[in-house]
Amino acid sequence: TGKFTYDPGFLSTASCSSSITYIDGDKGELLYRGYPIEQLAVNCDFMDICYLILNGDLPDSKEKLAFDDLITHHTMVNEQMHFFMRGFRRDAHPMAVLTGLVGAMSAFYHDSTDITDEHSRHVSAIRMIAKMPTLVAMAYKYSQGQPFIYPQNNLSYTGNFLRMMFATPCEDYVVNPVVERALDRIFILHADHEQNASTSTVRLCGSSGTNPFAAIAAGVACLWGPAHGGANEACLNMLEEIQAKGGMSYVGQFMEQVKDKNSGVRLMGFGHRVYKNYDPRAKLMQQTCKEVLASLGLENDPLFKLAMEVERIALEDQYFVDRKLYPNVDFYSGIVQRAIGVPTALFTAIFALARTVGWIAQWNEMISDPEYKIGRPRQLFVGSTARDVKR
Ligand code: CMC
Repeated sequence: TGKFTYDPGFLSTASCSSSITYIDGDKGELLYRGYPIEQLAVNCDFMDICYLILNGDLPDSKEKLAFDDLITHHTMVNEQMHFFMRGFRRDAHPMAVLTGLVGAMSAFYHDSTDITDEHSRHVSAIRMIAKMPTLVAMAYKYSQGQPFIYPQNNLSYTGNFLRMMFATPCEDYVVNPVVERALDRIFILHADHEQNASTSTVRLCGSSGTNPFAAIAAGVACLWGPAHGGANEACLNMLEEIQAKGGMSYVGQFMEQVKDKNSGVRLMGFGHRVYKNYDPRAKLMQQTCKEVLASLGLENDPLFKLAMEVERIALEDQYFVDRKLYPNVDFYSGIVQRAIGVPTALFTAIFALARTVGWIAQWNEMISDPEYKIGRPRQLFVGSTARDVKR
């Protein structure tokens, strides 16, 4: 191709350098700032992870308190956003609503859109991480025709989100610690994943110098697709379809369809561009799934059994073995979310909530790099050569 290489889908092109997340796809290894995900998932909460991803190291107890406090005091959104929200149809997909709301933040919070100012970038980061749960819960409440529940500052980040989602003004709401821990684990496992499609979108969009709210709205839009974050919703729908068509007795037939390239059916929650081994997040998610189902008395959850059977077949089947297709993070996360009462249509919005810290940290890393340039891929032109208009 002469002056440039042709690499559709960026299979072998590094678009940036980064010091945030490391993946070894062959080993199935994931590190945030050098710490293995397995250790972070067990020893930290999501606020530790946000601090780590943003600042490069885990907080000590004083830093943690100050960070918690800072995030907590930014959870409320401008009241005007409630009115903005009311313009949406009630049956709109939460990801459509979220894309709009996040983009609209650049209109409501334009006092922190100066990307040349480090403090302004920090304020945007805090605002975005803090307000995302409020926006997701608003989208849910709106879809249910229920009143919005305002954040409550004495709760944890995750407890607060659960309350905004599931409380009503009519009765007290007590956060279930098992549910809180499970959701926090989901947030941790989704916090960052180096240069995936939505993060690359945030970087590309941000590389033009647009404000961070606009860049992250682009990331939310990208995440929505079923090949990316939309896979958790698609995976649960797939398991429900298998269940409806016969459950365990239908799994084998379904797997044959997946292997038939003409069927157009993919096994959702399986496969990954980088992992050619078991996704470590899927392992942790499966473990969380078992714990949550057991503690909620749902050990016999039929979809969990189906998922385990699908995985068992796939790990032994030559089609999946040859292509190194393993469960990814989206395979079990839907089952956990369903068990704790999150509706399927909201799964990807919860992924967006958790990934916000990764997006904003990656955006900030790019903006702080004195050598960053606008992203501008080249093309292989395959259209007509020059010709004259004849009239
Ligand atoms: N079911 C059946 N076949 C698959 C699947 C699957 N889920 N994934 C890949 N393959 C096959 C594919 O048909 C191809 O076969 P062949 O070599 O015979 O043509 C081979 O495996 C390589 O697939 P690819 O599409 O070239 O791989 P990719 O790196 O471009 O795509 C992927 C990665 C994640 C988009 C893909 O595996 C997929 O569509 N998975 C299902 C959707 C999903 O779970 N997405 C979530 C990704 S992880 C977390 C996230 O981003 O949200």
